[in-house]
Amino acid sequence: MKDTHIIIAIDGPAAAGKGTLSRRLAARYGLHHLDTGLTYRATAKALLDRGLPLDDEGLAADVARNLDLSSLDRSVLAVHEVGEAASKVAVMPKVRRALVEAQRDFAATAPGTVLDGRDIGTVVCPDALIKFYVTASPEVRAQRRYEEIIGQGGSADLAGILADLKKRDARDSERTDSPLKPAPDAHLLDTSEMGIEAAFEAARVLVDAALQT
Ligand code: DC
Repeated sequence: MKDTHIIIAIDGPAAAGKGTLSRRLAARYGLHHLDTGLTYRATAKALLDRGLPLDDEGLAADVARNLDLSSLDRSVLAVHEVGEAASKVAVMPKVRRALVEAQRDFAATAPGTVLDGRDIGTVVCPDALIKFYVTASPEVRAQRRYEEIIGQGGSADLAGILADLKKRDARDSERTDSPLKPAPDAHLLDTSEMGIEAAFEAARVLVDAALQT
């Protein structure tokens, strides 16, 4: 068994199942988990709350540098407008530099960590023990998000969700700084057909094997 610091890197587009997979892997191996999307969301929310513009890179980077990673509240950061605003601040190199530094500090927490996001395997932790790229078709992801909202008693429009996901994918993949893409050495997990539970099993087998080598 490896006795070095363990980092598991998980990337992929929105609603592909990265969050569930990351939490399951963190619990299975006793590691700390950071959803790095929350750091972009918290930066955007702080700007929105203070009535500050979303397109002032210097200002957004100041907010990012002062973020407290230990107080990220998923429930207030999950809302749609915050996600939209987050994908706008996420294109700014200075914001990314500040957040990547904080994410790397977190990644170094003993005994090890699982980080999920868009650029973990490519930029934040290129030396991670193991990397996964979790994906699913836009239709499957939209359907999952739709069921999640309905399951929570909300109302949703499937076509609108799908259009939104595609727009978000394009913004994340087409930006010049750290675009969403699989690291060359990432294991691809397509959850369109296998489902998230089977993806967890597949990932577990690969992590176990990586820990033995
Ligand atoms: O995964 P999410 O919806 O919480 O992410 C919010 C936004 O932040 C999304 O547009 C992608 C961006 N993001 C990023 O650019 N890099 C990361 N490591 C994580 C999220």
